[in-house]
Amino acid sequence: MLLLQPVRSFFGKSSSAARAIFSRSNTSCVLRGRHLGRDSGEAVLQRIYDSLNTDRSGDDLIEQVTAILNTATLRDVGLQEGDLAGDRIWKGRQQSLYIPIAHTSKFDIAVFIIKKGNSLPLHDHPDMTVLSKLLHGKLRLKSFDWIEDSRQSKGSATTVHAATCINDREVTAPADAWRLGPHNGNLHDLEATETSAVLDILLPPYGNGRRCSYYKMAQDPVAGNRGNASLVLLKQVPEPRGLPEFYPYTGPSITTGGSRSPKRFWQ
Ligand SMILES: [Fe+2]
Repeated sequence: MLLLQPVRSFFGKSSSAARAIFSRSNTSCVLRGRHLGRDSGEAVLQRIYDSLNTDRSGDDLIEQVTAILNTATLRDVGLQEGDLAGDRIWKGRQQSLYIPIAHTSKFDIAVFIIKKGNSLPLHDHPDMTVLSKLLHGKLRLKSFDWIEDSRQSKGSATTVHAATCINDREVTAPADAWRLGPHNGNLHDLEATETSAVLDILLPPYGNGRRCSYYKMAQDPVAGNRGNASLVLLKQVPEPRGLPEFYPYTGPSITTGGSRSPKRFWQ
C-alpha cells in the first residue's frame, strides 16, 4: 500500500525500501533454487504492469487490471503456502510484512503478508484508487466513507469526524479482487483471521501531497444509523506502532518500457 511517505511510515527513514534500486538479472527467474517458468507467475505481474504502464485511465483500465488481478496466485509473486506458515520469512518477526514489487509515478504494486491476528490499521488513500486481491488466507475487511458534513475539518488530530461503515465482511481466498475508490470506501482496515497475503495496486501511489493518515474509533458504534449503514466517529491518530516491515521481493522480475532486461525495483 505504501511508498514515499508510507515507506517512511512502515520502514523508517533508513530503510532500503526507500531506495528504488534497479538491477539487471538474466532472463531466467530462479526462485530459491527453483525455476519459475515465464508462463506461470511472471506473466500475471507482467500483464498487470504492462496494463498499468499505459496512457489509459478510468474504468476501462480498472476493469482490465482487475480481470488480470483476479487470476493472480501466491506463486505469481514468488511465494508458496508453506512460506506463510513456515519460519523462514518470519524469523521471530511479530509484525506483518510489506513486499514492494514495482513503483512508477503512476502506480505501485506490492504484497502485504498479514500475520494471523494482526491488522493493517484504519488508514486512508487520499485521492487514490486501491485494487486488492487476497492471494491466500482469510481476513475481515472494513471500509468507511466520511460523512460529508464532517469532512470540512478533517485532518485535525483533536477532533472526531463521522463516517459510515459501508463494508464489513470476511474475505476468504480465493476471492475476487476488491476496489476502494477515491471517495468510496477509501478509509479501510484489514484484520487477518488467518495469515493472509494481499496483492495491492495503488493508483496513483502515495507522494506528491498524498499522505497516509491513520484513524481509530473515537466512540464505538453507534452515533446513530442512516439506513442500514453504521455511523461511527473516527479520530485521526499518529502513526501506530507495529506496522508491517519491509521484506524483499523474490518473485519474477518485470520487464519495463521496452527493455528486454527484467528489472527488480527493490533490493
Ligand atoms: Fe490501504
